[in-house]
Amino acid sequence: MKTDSTRPLIAPSLLAADFARLGEEVRAVEQAGADWLHLDIMDGHFVPNITFGPLVVKALRQHTSLPMDAHLMIAPADPYIVAFAEAGADHISVHPEAGPHLHRTLQLIRSLGKKAGVVLNPATPIEAVVNVLDITDIIMVMTVNPGFGGQAFLASQLSKIAALRQLIDDSGRDIVLQVDGGVTAKTAPQILAAGATCLIAGTAVYGAPDYAPAIQALRTPPPPRPQLTEAG
Ligand code: DX5
Ligand code: ZN
Repeated sequence: MKTDSTRPLIAPSLLAADFARLGEEVRAVEQAGADWLHLDIMDGHFVPNITFGPLVVKALRQHTSLPMDAHLMIAPADPYIVAFAEAGADHISVHPEAGPHLHRTLQLIRSLGKKAGVVLNPATPIEAVVNVLDITDIIMVMTVNPGFGGQAFLASQLSKIAALRQLIDDSGRDIVLQVDGGVTAKTAPQILAAGATCLIAGTAVYGAPDYAPAIQALRTPPPPRPQLTEAG
């Protein structure tokens, strides 16, 4: 899963799609150039919102060949991991706060042949992942509090992204550094500069009239504005 900040992976989040047309919405972002499909699974308990479960993931599997990136915002997560794996999720990411044994959870995900991810809430320190790097494929930094799309990007998390970049580089491991929440064409350049290699975007893709340019705008941030110079 080697990635490169000069060509970041873009993972549209279905949370901002039209839920009455999910299959069509999935096909549309695949055609528009998405790299992964991000699926936000919420239980109304770990986070104050409810979305969908393995049955919907399984139904969507028929509509795309993109890697399906399941972000579990459910507690406990362990009893449902096999169901999401069997439904066709390719990556399964969990919050350390969602269970007592993060190492065991990651082992379980890996044992099912899936990529294992750890998600850090804004208040969760990087130490939560330091001792499980050897069984982690993805680290996701939340740049909003999980539960809802369309929230404002928390710039306070940029230093965490940079610290994780350093940690991953020092480890020499092949770990994708994802950022989730408030990602837009405006915030993407600073996120990529901090070292992220995968951008998750709900509103910035599904809220746009045309998905392909919206995805491209995240991948290739617009050049800086020309400096105003003195006339003459
Ligand atoms: C929030 C979810 C995000 C959400 C991001 O809990 O994890 O994936 O869809 O939405 P935007 O991109 O609108 O901030
Ligand atoms: Zn998410």
